[in-house]
Amino acid sequence: MEVITKRPKGTQDVKPSEVCKWHTVEKITAETAACFGFKEIRFPTFENTALFKRSVGDATDVVQKEMYSVSAKSPANGKDPDDFTLRPEGTAGAARAVIENGLLNEAMPQKVFYNISCFRHEKPQAGRLREFHQFGAEMYGSASPAADADMIIMVKTLLERLGISDIELNINSIGCPVCRAEYHKALKAYFEARKDELCGTCLERLEKNPMRILDCKSPICQDIAKDAPVIIDYLCDECKEHFEKLKKLLDLMKIEYTVNPKIVRGLDYYTKTVFEFVSTHIGAQGTICGGGRYDGLLEQLGAEPTPALGFAMGLERLIMTMEAQGCEFMQDEKCSLYIAAMDEAAMEKAVVMTKALRDEGYWAEYDLAGRGLKAQMKYANKIGAEFVIVLGGNELESGMAKLKNMATGEQTDISLGDKFVDVFANIHTANMFAEA
Ligand code: HAM
Repeated sequence: MEVITKRPKGTQDVKPSEVCKWHTVEKITAETAACFGFKEIRFPTFENTALFKRSVGDATDVVQKEMYSVSAKSPANGKDPDDFTLRPEGTAGAARAVIENGLLNEAMPQKVFYNISCFRHEKPQAGRLREFHQFGAEMYGSASPAADADMIIMVKTLLERLGISDIELNINSIGCPVCRAEYHKALKAYFEARKDELCGTCLERLEKNPMRILDCKSPICQDIAKDAPVIIDYLCDECKEHFEKLKKLLDLMKIEYTVNPKIVRGLDYYTKTVFEFVSTHIGAQGTICGGGRYDGLLEQLGAEPTPALGFAMGLERLIMTMEAQGCEFMQDEKCSLYIAAMDEAAMEKAVVMTKALRDEGYWAEYDLAGRGLKAQMKYANKIGAEFVIVLGGNELESGMAKLKNMATGEQTDISLGDKFVDVFANIHTANMFAEA
């Protein structure tokens, strides 16, 4: 069948048969977050554009090339049109919401998590979408390297609970404004020497924030950046010590990692620790989780100076990894009982029985399409009904019917009277144990 317009490029539909995969991830992420003391926060899909410019950073690819920005067609009261942007990530919106709702005045550290959709105008490919989903967690108010370790342990725990193995953890420190100033000088000198070869965007970045040249997607700029100085060689004593303590804690917890001095992350707010978890099972877009510390962001957004850190996982990439590794997902609900009715009177009885079963939490069905008995049985099979009852004149008259177990073919006599739901519940439970 031709539909009049297809889904936008870089977006995905999730069919009902696939939704259980999302439920699995959503359930386990929320349960794991709870064990680490994180509470869910919800915030708008779009924010004032200024929020992302200020936090993610003017010189980043995300702000320069990938934001979906919109303005209202008819500005209220003849004022300037509002300038909104669909969130390209969650850290900025979460920080804005935490400040605006006074959560920084509550017990510290504050810990929040979110399961959100994000939007980036990128070139779509496997694992890279224009609308994608993130599970993210943010902690506000701890400057301790133990908090960095705790976040990494949380990601590890979550991956284990999802059944994912073979994930590489890369860590780095990108310093604080003190060491960054020295580093920027060195970086600027390095790129100045090859200025003529850089792309137009990177020429601008050379002035605004030379570190952003390191994550330019142009192959020429990438090639030039290969031999650029690395920040880890420029860390101040405090940042060095923070990084050493983090490594010690990870060693203590027997968490394997690689120090990768090339990780700088594509967003401007990071300070000190940055990390990425990479899957080798899903191709080029293998980074399933990215995060780090961002000690300056909250102050920049108007709060008192508050250290903070967090991470976000791409749920599409996470599910792709789980599929590639044959991880288990929660099973779809099964139809417990299908009642096939042979005539109008039987149909009326089926309506009453179905209601009683549904009231007790069972998925019960009867024919809504005016089908004959054969077609009803076919439908019951298609939806995977565990049990079927056929109701006709004889059954209504005797008040007894045959309850058929569709997997074994076994038939049990069952009374259609007041105790029907209780008796069905016992048989259903016994069958569940027999199957397990
Ligand atoms: P990010 O590295 O930009 O960090 O994104 C986090 C994760 O989102 C990535 O590792 C990837 O799995 C997924 N992701 C990003 N872009 C796409 C895309 N176009 N298609 C599919 N998946 C994608 C952040 O967003 C930070 N806010 C993370 C953070 C939280 N840092 C501190 N707190």
